[in-house]
Amino acid sequence: MRRYDNGYDTDQAGELRRMVTDNRQKKKAETPPARLHTLSILSGKGGVGKSNIAAALSFALADFGKRVVLIDADLGMANLDILCGVRNAKYNIAHLIEGSRSLNEILVHFKTSERATKLNGSVSLLPGGYGIREIADLDEFALERLFESLSDLEMMSDYLIMDAGAGIHKGALSFAYASEITLLITTPEPTSIRDAYGVIKSLGSAAWQESKDSATGVMLIVNMASSSREAQEVAERIRLASMQFLGNAPMYLGYVLKDDVIERSVKNCRIFYRSDPDSNAGICIRNLAGDLLRMCEGMNVEHEKLPEKKKGIRGFLSRLSEKLFAENK
Ligand SMILES: Nc1ncnc2c1ncn2[C@@H]1O[C@H](COP(=O)(O)OP(=O)(O)O)[C@@H](O)[C@H]1O
Ligand SMILES: [Mg+2]
Repeated sequence: MRRYDNGYDTDQAGELRRMVTDNRQKKKAETPPARLHTLSILSGKGGVGKSNIAAALSFALADFGKRVVLIDADLGMANLDILCGVRNAKYNIAHLIEGSRSLNEILVHFKTSERATKLNGSVSLLPGGYGIREIADLDEFALERLFESLSDLEMMSDYLIMDAGAGIHKGALSFAYASEITLLITTPEPTSIRDAYGVIKSLGSAAWQESKDSATGVMLIVNMASSSREAQEVAERIRLASMQFLGNAPMYLGYVLKDDVIERSVKNCRIFYRSDPDSNAGICIRNLAGDLLRMCEGMNVEHEKLPEKKKGIRGFLSRLSEKLFAENK
């Protein structure tokens, strides 16, 4: 048998090529139609409950049988690992950016409720690296490595929930622009309301449904409300201002009541929804998860009509890079 310089004999090389082609075809055949829904959670002001809501919603969606990957995209202020009781997460998003670890090595898988397990629901966390710079500051190569790894999420999850941080900096706004749905969290405090309006204003037309491919745009969640009525009033104030000055308004999705159980759980590094799913706040989270699911299932029909590159994680990543690179060029 003739041996080539590269050390492979012809048969071996042919076999390798066949294996690669087979693997590619297999991967293609295994790739389900893009159905992954992308949700980012952000706020104008910090400390309004984004991380708690992101984590609690993830576990509530798992109880409905969904496979959820929670990403701590609040680069620089990442704390979801601590909040979720993960001690000493070995690897984080920084290792993905460096290219030194694979997604599978980094993801932290949580134990879910009996109900979730029965329905094949799951929650995994991609921890954020503490002190990482803004996503908008990463160079093209780092972003490419990150995007390449994230594209595997399509196969392993139904929902991608990103805790995108506070403020109107480019990173958070880019996540909002790229996601199908942006959950904008505010509390009834006037400062939080004003800053939530600031986010809507900064997002501009990206905040509205019709400007994005099958995306629903921004939806309001009022956290720490003392009643459903107060929450509704807060949402209405934001919607009215938005309508009056920007000509369009985000939808109001729902509320989470102020509940001591959250503070207690945070102190014990527990997600309140896991330990107290039937608390007042837990019931609110379950209602929000149910409404989100109904909305996203409805979106699937429209989703099917989109070209592959605009769907799921591919759509998300291409919108994200479009946003991150557009203004740099
Ligand atoms: N619904 C709520 N009821 C009572 N306290 C809450 C509620 N939501 C959040 N908190 C409190 O607010 C603090 C900040 O929440 P966190 O999720 O870390 O906010 P963010 O991620 O927006 O900075 C938590 O430590 C918790 O004590
Ligand atoms: Mg947070």
